[in-house]
Amino acid sequence: MESQAEINDKKFLGELLTLKEQVKFRERFALPQDLRDVVIAGMGGSGIVGSIFKELYSKLPVVLANSYELPDFVGKGTLVVAISYSGNTEETLAACGEAKKRGASIVGITSGGALAQEAEKVVKIPSGLQPRSALGYMLMPLLNSFEVCKDGSVEETYGILERMDNDNSFGEKMAEEIFKEKYIPLIYGTSPYSSIAYRWSTQFNENAKLMALWSNFPELNHNNTMALKASYRLDELYPICLLSNKSERIMRRINATQEVTGMRFRQIIEPQGTSNLAQVMSLMHIGDYLTYHLAKLRGIDPLDVSAIESLKAKLK
Ligand code: PA5
Repeated sequence: MESQAEINDKKFLGELLTLKEQVKFRERFALPQDLRDVVIAGMGGSGIVGSIFKELYSKLPVVLANSYELPDFVGKGTLVVAISYSGNTEETLAACGEAKKRGASIVGITSGGALAQEAEKVVKIPSGLQPRSALGYMLMPLLNSFEVCKDGSVEETYGILERMDNDNSFGEKMAEEIFKEKYIPLIYGTSPYSSIAYRWSTQFNENAKLMALWSNFPELNHNNTMALKASYRLDELYPICLLSNKSERIMRRINATQEVTGMRFRQIIEPQGTSNLAQVMSLMHIGDYLTYHLAKLRGIDPLDVSAIESLKAKLK
């Protein structure tokens, strides 16, 4: 008989395998007329969707709301997209309630819960996954509605993700290296997918239950750079660069950072494909697999979010 650990492992792996199907999710919502600005409210595995979207879309101002409050400018002319996989996250519901009072248009992206009742328009997404594994379902309605993806992006992304699902030995190898020496991951991103460095760190937290540090070029050259030279336990870090920007200035910064601080990237990872969608998803999915394999090596259940749930229950 299969143990609970084996069942959970299989379930989580099954969730990772659905990402390629999720990019085919065609749902969209109508944008309000006279749309002036966009606020995306959400937390954790749902909130990251807003960070990714903000980097992919810049025709209108996009502001993230990752707490209870909304910025003062929110009112008529603002579209508030409230994203919560469960539909019951208190910060997101508070932001949604505030948006209503201010007369903003509201779209909820959720699998159910209170948000499905609260929002004036709702994009219903499939339930039964971990929020962080449902990123495609939550992101695609935004990309579809704001027409961010070029023709052919979905097909290209599907193919790349499918290949990664069949062979994720690269992520597995990194997991083995990190596990062997008990390294702390240090993830540095670059535009236009800086948010993926943050996503990797949260996947380390939630899947592998490991602390992870992250920042982005060029910002890290104005603070982290000092610590990279003089911090405690630098040899315990596993520095990874997610290289999605090979401009001359960024490449010079990466090289100069290594020269000045003595830090050497153990991995420099580039996105795959030509479309924004393929690039962002491919870069992200390596981190999904790496953290899944690391959880396995640590004998940890990648599905388990019991501490987050206990905390939510305590605050009720
Ligand atoms: O990954 C997780 O389980 C969390 O980060 C949740 O996404 C977070 O607590 C917010 O919940 P929800 O996504 O249901 O709004």
